[in-house]
Amino acid sequence: MIYSQQEPPTRREQDRLLVTGGAGFIGSNFVHHWCEQYPNDRVVVLDALTYAGNRQNLADLTHLDNFRFVHGDICDRPLIDSLLQEEAINTVAHFAAESHVDRSILGPDAFVRTNVVGTFTLLESFRNHWEKGGKLESDRFLHVSTDEVYGSLGPDEHAFTETTPYAPNSPYSASKAGSDHLARAYYHTYGLPTIITNCSNNYGPYHFPEKLIPLMCINILLGKSLPVYGDGQNIRDWLYVGDHCRALDIVIHKGQPGETYNIGGNNEVKNIDLVNKLCELMNELAPDLPIRPAQKLITFVKDRPGHDRRYAIDASKIRTELGWIPAETVEGGLRHTIEWYLTHRDWWQPLLSQEYQAYYRQVYV
Ligand code: NAD
Ligand code: DAU
Repeated sequence: MIYSQQEPPTRREQDRLLVTGGAGFIGSNFVHHWCEQYPNDRVVVLDALTYAGNRQNLADLTHLDNFRFVHGDICDRPLIDSLLQEEAINTVAHFAAESHVDRSILGPDAFVRTNVVGTFTLLESFRNHWEKGGKLESDRFLHVSTDEVYGSLGPDEHAFTETTPYAPNSPYSASKAGSDHLARAYYHTYGLPTIITNCSNNYGPYHFPEKLIPLMCINILLGKSLPVYGDGQNIRDWLYVGDHCRALDIVIHKGQPGETYNIGGNNEVKNIDLVNKLCELMNELAPDLPIRPAQKLITFVKDRPGHDRRYAIDASKIRTELGWIPAETVEGGLRHTIEWYLTHRDWWQPLLSQEYQAYYRQVYV
């Protein structure tokens, strides 16, 4: 059965969520989704507001009685202990992470701290809270992870399944793999109702400019070169962020503790083809581009060290067991995303800060 708005899953009267990293890209899309779908639920966002976190992403929710934003770090155990208790949290949706591969190559420390130590701190705190609360079977700890933990695929290899062995290649994916193992171990050792999701590349509104799609969209609008790594033949499996959020909703409500679910769009695209498509759509949708056609801006630059060649997700488990399928096509999702960047200059312009320019110079020397 395919889950739709008409067929909501069975649920408690009120869920009380702690959403970590809720001011980031996917976390903020998820919080919007949840607050729209379940306005009676309590949603507490915990976010350290690193360079990737942005209060603006949640600005339209601050007036809601059931919403609370807490500025804090997932490594801060006393803070998490008190939040779980005072808010009577029964569901943790854990998004907080250092998420950009290029930054993990420049400086892995923060990745180990937040992704490994931070996840461990949350798991320990939630275990304590769950044990004191009588180990309710309905409680959930959703650990949001990535397909990058499975490593890189050859051109003819079958897409990643939930049983593909882990083979992370970057400090980012290695730190995410470490956190996945901890989440898994907490189920097997303590019975803590953890669920892991491993998702492919997301795109959509509120995506920080350092990632491929927003970076290309913004550079086209500014008439700056479009840096394609290596030969541009690397493949990613793109998923519209709204489809990811719907999948996570279904996993929280219908997923089995101790299980892993792969989530992907079944949309494998070569980077160079994606960049050309973005140029084509920008030429059509943005009337006053500084350089036109935008394809003139494409520049091949030195490759990312250890650059994974291909990711692809086999999402048949979540489709057959939980009834999730993506709703958005790549064409539709990209149009929607470009229109969002065209109408939200006030969102992205301030993000091109001095810190961002310094980072940019380091990666694109
Ligand atoms: P993001 O970088 O946009 O957001 C991360 C958020 O976490 C930010 O708001 C940041 O302030 C917060 N944060 C960082 N360190 C923190 C700390 N120590 N304490 C509290 N908050 C902290 O990331 P994203 O792209 O939204 O990814 C969210 C999650 O989804 C990550 O766990 C990532 O690994 C995973 N994921 C991302 C993708 C993707 O394509 N972006 C795909 C699959 C999985
Ligand atoms: O697969 C899921 C992962 O997708 C998530 O876990 C990560 O958090 C997320 O950042 C993303 O990782 P990637 O490294 O795949 O995404 P990114 O947008 O950085 O790059 C996508 C592809 O585009 C990749 O092959 C590198 C290439 N690229 C990227 C940038 C920023 C370029 O060619 N030029 C660029 O300037």
